[in-house]
Amino acid sequence: MRAAWVLLAAVAALSAYYVYLPLPGTVSDPWKLMLLDATFRVVQQTCHLIHYLRLSHHLIVLNYLICTFDKLKSVSSEDINITDAVFDGVEVRVFEPPAKRDERLKRSVVYIHGGGWALASARTSLYNNLCRIMAESLNAVVVSVEYRLVPEVCFPEQFYDALRATKHFLQPDVLAEYSVDPRRIAISGDSAGGNLAAAVCQQVSKDEHLAIRPKLQALIYPVLQAFDFNTPSYQQNMNMPVLPRYVMINYWIDYFNGNYDLAHSLLINNHTALDVSQAFSFRGHLNWTSLLPSSFKKNYKPVIQTTGKAEIIQEIPALLDVRAAPLLADNETLQLQPKTYILTCENDVLRDDGVMYAKRLENAGVEVTLDHFDDCFHGCMIFTIWPTDFSAGIQTRNSYIKWLDENL
Ligand SMILES: *[C@@H]1O[C@H](CO)[C@@H](O)[C@H](O)[C@H]1NC(C)=O
Ligand SMILES: *[C@@H]1O[C@H](CO)[C@@H](O)[C@H](O)[C@H]1NC(C)=O
Ligand SMILES: *[C@@H]1O[C@H](CO)[C@@H](O)[C@H](O)[C@H]1NC(C)=O
Ligand SMILES: *[C@@H]1O[C@H](CO)[C@@H](O)[C@H](O)[C@H]1NC(C)=O
Repeated sequence: MRAAWVLLAAVAALSAYYVYLPLPGTVSDPWKLMLLDATFRVVQQTCHLIHYLRLSHHLIVLNYLICTFDKLKSVSSEDINITDAVFDGVEVRVFEPPAKRDERLKRSVVYIHGGGWALASARTSLYNNLCRIMAESLNAVVVSVEYRLVPEVCFPEQFYDALRATKHFLQPDVLAEYSVDPRRIAISGDSAGGNLAAAVCQQVSKDEHLAIRPKLQALIYPVLQAFDFNTPSYQQNMNMPVLPRYVMINYWIDYFNGNYDLAHSLLINNHTALDVSQAFSFRGHLNWTSLLPSSFKKNYKPVIQTTGKAEIIQEIPALLDVRAAPLLADNETLQLQPKTYILTCENDVLRDDGVMYAKRLENAGVEVTLDHFDDCFHGCMIFTIWPTDFSAGIQTRNSYIKWLDENL
């Protein structure tokens, strides 16, 4: 009997140790976040074990589990007409509010979901619910892009899928078919979807053959660069739930179909050391000592290696490809971008990606709204449905939709 109590106490202590994480006092719902993170870590480690045993790719198992869990949540949507379609070979899910008599043309949002280029889907309730709510509250046609995922395809296929679907939609006859006003279209996405949205927006802005371009872009905690994994936010939040630094680096490696052994070198910025000539011309584009306000820089020091490993860029040139890292774009491209909304969270390794992009766009003369949340964490906007409902989710979603409503 005594042994059982000792064992129980040991298990409880071990679980508490596994679940407990020191979080900043400002994070909302800290215990819930720790539980979510612990669950996610257990699931990820199980997936890595399955990968290690060569039974399946860890991202395939992880996505399978996410989609299975997701089926337990049902979301009704009586008012919005949801249909699946194919735009130039790319699957999309279209959310249409009911047509009202004598109504003018509708506004529209092209939405690109997040998940490290490898997880989730326009069809999961997480994103189905978000897009339905957007369609309803904005009375807008929302096109959610079902781009193909890692490991089925890698960069640049995700980018091309998103670009093809967007360009197909921007044709006058397609917009007319959905009763969409060509002057009131936004392109938007969260996390890896924000990366694709920003990259597609840059590409579309330079395309001389397009008659119709987006009026706005709205990026939710976007991933924008793989150049510097030691920005103040990467240093400050390297162990933050949902997206610790090494997990983000591994998403990048998987996106580029690279070798996981590179993670150690990327972590210390060996791929962009001063002796790596390919990196030279980009350095000024993400010089955070000049782009970030001092409240974000705090006392963090830049990590710039004098000698590194130029082989890494030869092995993965995509690390410096602007279609993968929109923050590397030159000033001329930035000048062409539409009015922009960028949402950032304090407790997120990607905070400074978003803040630097906002600053560079502003310097280039683009009208930018930077919507920063002190008590929020990466990925929070999709966590609005029980049991993974967070006040941070509702708060960020409302703010994002409000901006779209006022500006689209
Ligand atoms: C839903 O949308 C599809 C495709 O646009 C259309 O064919 C169908 O009639 C719509 N259904 C309703 C109930 O509006
Ligand atoms: C980065 O910005 C700082 C401060 O403005 C400046 O001193 C430094 O030379 C810049 N570095 C590069 C590589 O542009
Ligand atoms: C970084 O590069 C330097 C110079 O090539 C090398 O000595 C060092 O081992 C590298 N570090 C990692 C973690 O790859
Ligand atoms: C880009 O714009 C920034 C801010 O206006 C400026 O400091 C920088 O020199 C420009 N870079 C180039 C290559 O023109």
